[in-house]
Amino acid sequence: MQALKEKILALKKVKNAVILAHYYQEPDIQEIADYVGDSLGLSQEAAKADADIILFAGVHFMAETAKILNPNKKVILPDLNAGCSLAESCPPEIFQKFITAHPDHIVITYVNCSAEIKAMSHLVCTSSNAVKIVASVPKNIPIIFAPDKNLGRYIEQQTGRKMVLWDGSCVVHEAFSLDKLIALHQKHPNAKIIAHPESEKHILDTAAYVGSTSGMIDYVKTSSASEFIVATEAGILYKMQQEVPDKILIPAPSVENNTCACSECGFMKMNTLQKVYDCLVNESPEIKVAATIRTKALVPIERMLELSN
Ligand code: 13P
Ligand code: SF4
Repeated sequence: MQALKEKILALKKVKNAVILAHYYQEPDIQEIADYVGDSLGLSQEAAKADADIILFAGVHFMAETAKILNPNKKVILPDLNAGCSLAESCPPEIFQKFITAHPDHIVITYVNCSAEIKAMSHLVCTSSNAVKIVASVPKNIPIIFAPDKNLGRYIEQQTGRKMVLWDGSCVVHEAFSLDKLIALHQKHPNAKIIAHPESEKHILDTAAYVGSTSGMIDYVKTSSASEFIVATEAGILYKMQQEVPDKILIPAPSVENNTCACSECGFMKMNTLQKVYDCLVNESPEIKVAATIRTKALVPIERMLELSN
């Protein structure tokens, strides 16, 4: 494994490539990345990257967003099948009909969607700026929010604003079991529950903090508590534990009786160190976005980045 990591690091220099990785990637991949972050941080890094190649260790919509923001770079993704259940829950043709059925609404989409969906949007948001982005829209303008209904409901609760919600969700964050979570909290009564807003309302209602993956890491760093139950994809625990080596981090349990007693994103885990290496050698699979879609999709993403500053 070490030898493979060294080969990747050497090749990265030769090819003038930068590796951007999401917190849900395997620890080995996070270790060889130039930057590890949440969707917003990764978009900001991708926009300003000046390497020739951006190797995106994440899922397809993230790499596609990088390509939209920095089209002159070669953007590669170790496994093209690394999709996202949320992105897949929103097919463009059906979404277009949904928009047509709600005239006068502005369309705000969570970044976990395809370039085609972004091209139909007025604004894009991530989990770290969703509340701020929705709150930036004048109150008299009705909003369609897609594709995540759980995040949508959370924003409604935070802003006091009703929106028309698309019926999409993340399989990983809907896998948490409330009963098991309550039982676990009873065993660790001093632990703070922290949750990603893609989780269902009954999970979010138990949480002391709700936020993006970066937000959750910041919270455990600054909180005076020493124990946390973490309701998001288990890959985050690697970086989180490095940031707070003396604190106890417990993954929230999922309904499935799986091996890690947590919830893992099968899409994120499709990327492996070997695939990262092969991808860098072959400069493939490459992410391509048609120019007509790209120019339309860029507008709401850039609006989001401006509003996030
Ligand atoms: P973050 O932007 O909070 O990292 O979330 C990305 C994601 O896909 C969560 O499932
Ligand atoms: Fe998509 Fe859920 Fe995986 Fe995030 S955790 S990439 S929302 S399927």
